[in-house]
Amino acid sequence: MIARGLMLGLDQPVVLHMLDIPQMAGALNGVRMELVDAALPLLRGVVATSDEAEAFQGVNFAVLIGGWPRKEGMERKDLIAKNVAIYRIKIKISILMNFNPVTSRRALQVLVVANPANTNALVLKEFAPAVPAKNITCLTRLDHNRALGQISEKLGVHVGDVRNAIVWGNHSSTQFPDASHATARTDHGEKPVGELVADEKWLRDEFVSIVQQRGAAVIKARKQSSSLSAASAACDHMRDWILGTPKGTWVSMGVYSDGSYSVPKGIFYSFPVTCEKGEWSIVQGLQVDDFARSKMELSANELDEERSMASEFVSS
Ligand SMILES: NC(=O)c1ccc[n+]([C@@H]2O[C@H](COP(=O)([O-])OP(=O)(O)OC[C@H]3O[C@@H](n4cnc5c(N)ncnc54)[C@H](O)[C@@H]3O)[C@@H](O)[C@H]2O)c1
Repeated sequence: MIARGLMLGLDQPVVLHMLDIPQMAGALNGVRMELVDAALPLLRGVVATSDEAEAFQGVNFAVLIGGWPRKEGMERKDLIAKNVAIYRIKIKISILMNFNPVTSRRALQVLVVANPANTNALVLKEFAPAVPAKNITCLTRLDHNRALGQISEKLGVHVGDVRNAIVWGNHSSTQFPDASHATARTDHGEKPVGELVADEKWLRDEFVSIVQQRGAAVIKARKQSSSLSAASAACDHMRDWILGTPKGTWVSMGVYSDGSYSVPKGIFYSFPVTCEKGEWSIVQGLQVDDFARSKMELSANELDEERSMASEFVSS
């Protein structure tokens, strides 16, 4: 997808740096061979390596997918411990070494995909003080796109005609998918989704739980976690961040909270954002009712717990 221009633009040549652990070097080389075989005109080079310093050398955009997957019977705390170790090492060896805020303002923009994505992003931030917090984000665009998809199916409209759903909070089952500001284009103009659905119960219960549980439902169906939709969402996230969101449209991104909407500072939390010239800004002034507030707090509390767990391992 990246080498076809879906992330950085259809006319933007790219050099792909791919990092995996040494045990995966053979498979990584297989991917490199396939990239050569695909004869992609935008692809100007491939670096396939298990050396972190080499992987990060000179990169402008980093999509961090590598992580310790959650296995059966594994507690959230164990998952956090494993990933804190990975994200701490990654930073020490690579990003700190390569980031140069003097020579290039936008030297490195990072998207964390690996779970627990919000807390991995926080660990990254703590260990890379040279990288501005604004340059680190985490992926909740998949959840955002899932929300658009559910609204489109419910209304029988094309997904491209639905916009401005919001995913608040953690990329976990406590996230709050919120359709209360979403709109859909119809033959009679652009209308609020709430008015078109005309079923408050569906919007508050079914819609929320379908989006929250969608990842688990895909695993149940495929026996593997989401891959195509996750990759597509990662491209959407980076493209909008770098090239800008369309006028009048916002997207959901996990970003370092500045206290907007009374979300505690110091956690990576998914907000509605617009992007321009490579910078995101949280959309301000949206109305949040008591129902939304309680859901948003639940997810913030979970992130606060994750932060405490992570800091135990960071300091250990
Ligand atoms: N935020 C989201 O919306 C979202 C969506 C889908 C998947 N995910 C998460 O993304 C991650 C990747 O998912 P996947 O299905 O591709 O998993 P996967 O297990 O198939 O792939 C993970 C890859 O990371 C590599 N890896 C492990 N440790 C590494 C390290 N220290 N440095 C570099 N690479 C390392 C593994 O060898 C493997 O190739 C998982 O954590 C998953 O939960 C998040």
